[in-house]
Amino acid sequence: MKFFLDTADLAEIEEAASWGALAGVTTNPSLYAKIGGKLADFNNHMKRICEIVGPDCPVSAESVAITRDEIVRDGLQLAEIAPNIVVKIPTMVEGLAATRALADQGVRVNMTLCFSVPQALLAARAGARYISPFIGRFDDISQDGLAEVENIVAAIGNYDFTANTVNGEQVEIIAASIRSANHVTQCALMGAHIATVPFGVLKKMVQHPLTDKGLDSFMKDWEKVQNA
Ligand code: E4P
Repeated sequence: MKFFLDTADLAEIEEAASWGALAGVTTNPSLYAKIGGKLADFNNHMKRICEIVGPDCPVSAESVAITRDEIVRDGLQLAEIAPNIVVKIPTMVEGLAATRALADQGVRVNMTLCFSVPQALLAARAGARYISPFIGRFDDISQDGLAEVENIVAAIGNYDFTANTVNGEQVEIIAASIRSANHVTQCALMGAHIATVPFGVLKKMVQHPLTDKGLDSFMKDWEKVQNA
């Protein structure tokens, strides 16, 4: 499993990148609004994220257009920002059509707001490089988000979509809308390729009380050795 950071916050991205395990970043309009982002700064902000994570890490920048042609126009402009930009497009009819058009022009797409197996299969056939099923938003309405991701991972794994994607790349499932380290565990066990996690969840993933306890006792014992 690879780890993406789900944020538009540059300080969080810098910190997570310094840990050495970051493989990409996903953003969305809400995450950009959360950091007080302004429309005029958007492209520069995305460029900065691409620079921080480096050319091998995909950075999802979302189109907020609604019609196919507007999404394609938006997507082509976003793709100009940096070679590692992935255009994020909602899973809807116009979004599918725009994904096909962009993939045909060599632009990688992350289809987002995916909540079902049929949506994911259509996204893959339309040429999406990444598909992002959401977990937490299912949980928010008392439904089982993890079960849906498990179904999507299994269904996508049943078929070969390489004829549909840019350069014949494999479609990867990004488990999104993650709220806990346990979500990450479950998604890894079911074989999701990527988990995109908020910084708070990433910090919890590295923590364990027995690690803290063990470290504390090693430090105390080493002090005894030094004073012996
Ligand atoms: C996915 O790429 C989205 O940015 C994100 O995971 C949404 O998460 P949320 O449901 O916590 O807003």
